[in-house]
Amino acid sequence: MSEQTNADQSATENQHNQDNTTHFGYKTVESSEKASMVADVFHSVAKQYDIMNDLMSFGIHRLWKRFTIDASGVRPGNKVLDLAGGTGDLTAKFSQLVGRDGKVILADINSSMLNVGRDKLRDRGLVQNIEYVQANAEALPFEENTFDVVTIAFGLRNVTDKDKALRSIYSVLKPGGRLLVLEFSKPEHELLNKAYDFYSFNILPKMGDLVAKDGDSYQYLAESIRMHPDQETLKDMMNNAGFEQTNYKNLTGGIVALHKGYKF
Ligand SMILES: C[S@@+](CC[C@H](N)C(=O)[O-])C[C@H]1O[C@@H](n2cnc3c(N)ncnc32)[C@H](O)[C@@H]1O
Repeated sequence: MSEQTNADQSATENQHNQDNTTHFGYKTVESSEKASMVADVFHSVAKQYDIMNDLMSFGIHRLWKRFTIDASGVRPGNKVLDLAGGTGDLTAKFSQLVGRDGKVILADINSSMLNVGRDKLRDRGLVQNIEYVQANAEALPFEENTFDVVTIAFGLRNVTDKDKALRSIYSVLKPGGRLLVLEFSKPEHELLNKAYDFYSFNILPKMGDLVAKDGDSYQYLAESIRMHPDQETLKDMMNNAGFEQTNYKNLTGGIVALHKGYKF
């Protein structure tokens, strides 16, 4: 896959928007098909999702998530939306931090991921302040100005219309509220980029095949990461959706980036 610049990425997105197509990994598909293809991936991986996350990232995803929680500035009594929250890693931490007077909503489009998350959190005794909602990030079923914090971790790249999702998130945030987008991004150094490419396309799918018996889903994972907007493009997209003071921090050399933006 040849290197895409910022402008290339925007041009591709615009072209896709015009002809009602989008990408599913490296494939160009009808926009209307993508959600069900993504759904198949997450129905398939849901039960092995947590173990695969630890294996694939050597446990480092826990540090990225810890960093996200710390950057959220969440306080007791806050209302938090963990969007595309899947198996609930962030929800578990937020639930403890917002306390009895706060609330965390774990929202995801995929029932299998939500079920695994719900079972895991209930097994840990986390029941008091968590609600589970099946929802599409593009059309959130919440009132305007509801949440102090919204997070979307490793979720945005799977969403068909990312601009629509960002606008939807903006609407449900309270004034003063913030969005944190934790997502794979573009490594800062070429050497790291090459090593990461080799790992993603040669080792990841094999691991997926071996452990989750599903190499195809992990091939999609690698491709979807390469197709996701890079740091500056995502920052522009957040600004276009209305977010202010948008900034990002590269983690692990830019393999992952945490974007943060405010609604005022
Ligand atoms: C890679 S998982 C991330 C789960 C969790 N946030 C984490 O970091 O471990 C991506 C999640 O995004 C969800 N997702 C994909 N498209 C979505 C959409 N349009 N709206 C809401 N959730 C979506 C998937 O169902 C899946 O659970």
